[in-house]
Amino acid sequence: MAGLFSEASIRGMRVKNRMVLPPMVCFGWAGADGIVSEKHLSHYRARAEGGAGLLVIEATCVVPDGRLSMDQLGLWNDAQLPGMKEIAASCSAAGALALVQIHHAGWKSVSECAPVAAGPSVNPDRPDASRAMSTEEIHAVRDAFVSAAKRAREAGFHGVELHGAHGYLLSQFASPYDNRRTDEYGGTLENRYRLHVEIGRGIRAACGRDFILSIRVGCNEPDLAGGIAGAKYLEENGFDLLHVSASGHDRNKPAVPEHFPYNWIVWGGASIKHAVGIPVIVVNDIRSPERAAWLIENGWADFVAIGKDWLVDARWGAKAESGEEILACLHCRKGCSWFSLSDRCPRRKPESV
Ligand SMILES: Cc1cc2nc3c(=O)[nH]c(=O)nc-3n(C[C@H](O)[C@H](O)[C@H](O)COP(=O)(O)O)c2cc1C
Repeated sequence: MAGLFSEASIRGMRVKNRMVLPPMVCFGWAGADGIVSEKHLSHYRARAEGGAGLLVIEATCVVPDGRLSMDQLGLWNDAQLPGMKEIAASCSAAGALALVQIHHAGWKSVSECAPVAAGPSVNPDRPDASRAMSTEEIHAVRDAFVSAAKRAREAGFHGVELHGAHGYLLSQFASPYDNRRTDEYGGTLENRYRLHVEIGRGIRAACGRDFILSIRVGCNEPDLAGGIAGAKYLEENGFDLLHVSASGHDRNKPAVPEHFPYNWIVWGGASIKHAVGIPVIVVNDIRSPERAAWLIENGWADFVAIGKDWLVDARWGAKAESGEEILACLHCRKGCSWFSLSDRCPRRKPESV
């Protein structure tokens, strides 16, 4: 499994291995102020010390009215900086790179803190939240992403990851199903990715050249061909790293060839990997070190992210390397309890980190 533990680099920065902690909101831990709690600090410190080469800190909102849920972290004011600094410092001390995922939920924002509905266009699934954003509102959101990235840099992170997947704001802009605008932010691929590119350029100008600009994208945005075209366009426009997941809709899942023993999201990531030159992280239901290593060693990915299993066992990466037994996620039948309240995970003991 040597490939999994081999070094790599992103924008010239060394990554000690290929194992990534993907962004996962720790529901129930932050208050409405979006400030990092003690639980967050020990959670991320333990996973950085537990072997991750790269950590992507959970979806962190760029404006309070862009939150999906009131217990998300934020980077919209300076009071949120000290906790973020501690997270960044503990990752660096463990020899890991750390990015923050910066996020706006678009029409999925919590309504009580979204007086201005944030959908880019009329969405058939949410007619109640379907008012199109004005150009001024789009520019304000763009500037908020850039300000959040500046704070991430000030906090000591190595870069940021834009949340461009799972049907949130940037995914809504990218998707022709959601985005029916007729102005320069809708229609062609170039227009649907205009906001992403403007944010990327703003971050590069504000944060400098030694700062990683990553983006999480959906491989089926709106289908695999579109996902590949979008990824190539983002690479051409200055993004350094692609983290491939799913779009916000269930349509056009790529067919997985028989020889590929993973699901359609990993296949989508592997397909994008072969179409671009920048590094690609693949994710979803990879679960074991052996399965992660196979993807790296066969050239299907540059990095492999391990989500729920790393929530359950903080030392997932270190144990992968030492061969110790890993405590596996139970894949609860009713869905992951971290998604409602992290402390409800049956694998999370009161004293655990
Ligand atoms: C509790 C929980 C919270 C999540 N929060 C985020 C998030 O903040 N941003 C994001 O892009 N994906 C989020 N995800 C998705 C994960 O990053 C990952 O893609 C997903 O869990 C699949 O990987 P796995 O099968 O290894 O768990 C979350 C998943 C879980 C279980």
